[in-house]
Amino acid sequence: MSSLNIEIRPITPPEVPAIASLAREIWQASYPGIITQEQIDFMLEQRYGHERLYDDLEDAHKWLDQAIHDGRRVGFAFSELYKGEFKLDKLYIHPDVQRRGVGGQLIAHVAERARKQGYPCVILQVNKRNVKAINSYMKYGFSVRETMVDDIGRGYVMDDFVMEKKL
Ligand SMILES: CC(C)(COP(=O)(O)OP(=O)(O)OC[C@H]1O[C@@H](n2cnc3c(N)ncnc32)[C@H](O)[C@@H]1OP(=O)(O)O)[C@@H](O)C(=O)NCCC(=O)NCCS
Repeated sequence: MSSLNIEIRPITPPEVPAIASLAREIWQASYPGIITQEQIDFMLEQRYGHERLYDDLEDAHKWLDQAIHDGRRVGFAFSELYKGEFKLDKLYIHPDVQRRGVGGQLIAHVAERARKQGYPCVILQVNKRNVKAINSYMKYGFSVRETMVDDIGRGYVMDDFVMEKKL
């Protein structure tokens, strides 16, 4: 299918509830089979609670971008400075429009921001079992740097690859 024309623009506070529900919709379509429903609910609450998102928007070291196609919000990418590196922290595209280049365009946007700020690479963390995402990151120039098991509280862990794309 042809690549989708999108506009990328910053998320604003009134859009927080819409981002939280888009996240839930995409997570429900993507993560069953990779993590348990309980872990999905816990992580959504931890990362996409409205207060948490309002805080993220006020953080000078975080950038929250969304992709709009034909007036419809189809995905988002969060990036941030993390332990001295530039990190793509979240990348989520609605299942209706996956595999049409939206993820690639958001990655390019974030990579350009990192490059302008003088960072040598963009890093990210991805669940080791999320083959679809790992494939797309490899397509866009990321490779695995290390593995990481992160304790995220309440007995849950993230069993991840850290990937890096040189700029
Ligand atoms: C992973 C994700 C961000 C990629 O965004 P996207 O807009 O679908 O990706 P693009 O169209 O730019 O790139 C497509 C590439 O991704 C990979 N990919 C995407 N969907 C895939 C699928 N269903 N099966 C296999 N590979 C897939 C392929 O490498 C594909 O390249 P190809 O079409 O040339 O084979 C998106 O699929 C998504 O949001 N997935 C669910 C949530 C998620 O896992 N996010 C990442 C968390 S770390």
